[in-house]
Amino acid sequence: HPPGLQMGERSGLRRSECRAKGGAPGFKVAVLGAAGGIGQPLAMLMKMNPLVSVLHLYDVVNSPGVTADVSHMDTSAVVRGFLGKEQLENALTGMDLVIIPAGVPRKPGMTRDDLFNINAGIVKTLCEGIVNCCPNAIVNLISNPVNSTVPIAAEVFKKAGTFDPKRLLGVTMLDVVRANTFVAEVLGVDPKDVDVPVVGGHAGVTILPLLSQVKPQYTFTADEVRYLTDRIQNGGTEVVEAKAGAGSATLSMAFAAAKFADTCLRGLRGDAGIVECAFVASQVTELPFFASKVRLGRGGAEEIYPLGPLNDYERSGLEKAKKELASSIEKGISFVRK
Ligand code: NAD
Ligand code: LMR
Repeated sequence: HPPGLQMGERSGLRRSECRAKGGAPGFKVAVLGAAGGIGQPLAMLMKMNPLVSVLHLYDVVNSPGVTADVSHMDTSAVVRGFLGKEQLENALTGMDLVIIPAGVPRKPGMTRDDLFNINAGIVKTLCEGIVNCCPNAIVNLISNPVNSTVPIAAEVFKKAGTFDPKRLLGVTMLDVVRANTFVAEVLGVDPKDVDVPVVGGHAGVTILPLLSQVKPQYTFTADEVRYLTDRIQNGGTEVVEAKAGAGSATLSMAFAAAKFADTCLRGLRGDAGIVECAFVASQVTELPFFASKVRLGRGGAEEIYPLGPLNDYERSGLEKAKKELASSIEKGISFVRK
């Protein structure tokens, strides 16, 4: 059946679509890159979210199949598929939240920055679509290198005069998810009871776990700190190597993206006290973008929290992170300005 339509709509049988379960108003969410390794499980997880009333699945390939498949899940969100650039506008119009996992993933031996040449253009095009069709949507940007793609998106929005720093969020949730998992393993506790702030950015040394601020409070040995920092910073590479050429993290990323999107939607709904780490336009350091804890509300990232007290190890990690971040940010900005 034609992409852009959902089965019930085609037969004219669908009556309502903008109500989430229980009659509460729901949100309209688009996934761009929905047929990919992250996009498919993320589409499934968003279809399971009761806060979503309409789910648009856009890709340049295979989105009709993914749409047909996901649309058979008996949850309330209405699913529509969109295929190819000529359907980008329809995919984006009216969306409250746009999640972007479009772009190529790493293979062993590559850095995230090696993806810049292909993914920068993809992100720029998709953000131009957002400018035209849903300039007020919250954007969750997953495509790598996040340290450069978020500045690219910001530049596109600035050029169009639609930039609201609160509504553009680079997704670093996977770093937090990994940090919680690895720290819980060391502590021998359930990961759901662990909260590790991870600040900086989303590549190698720019990923800075603040182990001195872990909840529950715990004093790690120097060996534990080195092991955990190294494992958290290289978690992505661990998966890339294990997949041996078949891509990078997809399932844990879809889980992290769905978790992060849910916090954004709960913020949009007006829930209080929603705090997560994200890579945002920031004044926490001298850099124009930085990942740290943010409070999510109706307007997006409404408050950005300072880093809090750091120990010597974290302070030296912060200097390394800032050095690499500065050039990745600059690379993204000049890609659009040039
Ligand atoms: P994938 O190759 O499996 O899927 C990418 C999808 O994007 C494909 O379906 C492709 O058709 C689609 N696509 C390409 N160009 C497009 C365009 N112009 N418009 C819409 N869709 C387009 O890759 P993946 O494993 O899903 O990874 C996607 C991206 O996410 C990569 O850049 C990867 O590095 C990144 N990633 C980020 C994080 C993070 O923590 N932020 C984690 C994992 C992966
Ligand atoms: C990750 O952290 O898993 C992603 O950024 C993908 C990658 O290339 O490592």
